[in-house]
Amino acid sequence: MNNPNVAQAIEQYNSKIKRVLVTEEEIQQAIAQAAKEIDAIYDGRPILLVSILKGAFVFMADLCRAVTVPCEIGFMAAKSYYQGTVSTGVVKITMDLDQDVSNYHVVIVEDIIDTGRTLRDVVNMLKLRNPLSLRVVTLLDKPSRRLVDFEADKALFTIPDHFVIGYGLDCGEHYRNLRYIAEYGE
Ligand code: IMP
Ligand code: MG
Repeated sequence: MNNPNVAQAIEQYNSKIKRVLVTEEEIQQAIAQAAKEIDAIYDGRPILLVSILKGAFVFMADLCRAVTVPCEIGFMAAKSYYQGTVSTGVVKITMDLDQDVSNYHVVIVEDIIDTGRTLRDVVNMLKLRNPLSLRVVTLLDKPSRRLVDFEADKALFTIPDHFVIGYGLDCGEHYRNLRYIAEYGE
C-alpha cells in the first residue's frame, strides 16, 4: 500500500480484532452437527428457515446448505439499537416475512442472543401467526447478559460477555465478512 493514510486505516481496522474466539473450522463443524439434528427433528417435513438480518445472513447461508430436509428460506430484519457497543433496548421489526407461517414448521436462525429482547419480540410476534411449530437456533449465546427470560432451543456456542464480530456480526457495520468470530477491542 503506497498511501500511508490508507495503510494506517487498515492497520487500525485490523487492530480492533483482538483475538479469535471461534475458528472457521469450529463453526463449520458445529453447523454440520446442528444440521443433522434439524434433519432428525423434522424427519422430511418441510421447514421454513427464518433468518434475522443482517447479522444472521452468513449463518443462514451455511446452515441452509447443511440441512437435507426440504426447506424454504425467509428473512426478517429486526434492529436492536446500539449506542456504540451498548444495547439501548429498543427493538424494531424493519422488514417482515412474505410467507404465511401458518403453513410451516418455522426455524428461526439467529446470530447471537444477548439481552434476549430481539428474539423474545420476534418469537412472540411469530407465535401469534400460528406456525405448525417454532424452534430457535442461534449461533452464539451470551447468557450472562440476559435481561429477559428467553432461551434458544439450540445454541451452537456459549460465549462470555465480550462484544464479538465476524461471521455476520458487526461493529458499526464492519467486520461482518470475517470467516471466524473474534472479540472486538478498542
Ligand atoms: P438482544 O436483543 O440484546 O438479544 O440482541 C440481539 C442482537 O444484538 C443480535 O442479533 C445482534 O445483532 C446484536 N448483538 C448482540 N451482541 C452482539 C455482539 O457481541 N456483537 C455484535 N452484535 C451483537
Ligand atoms: Mg442480529
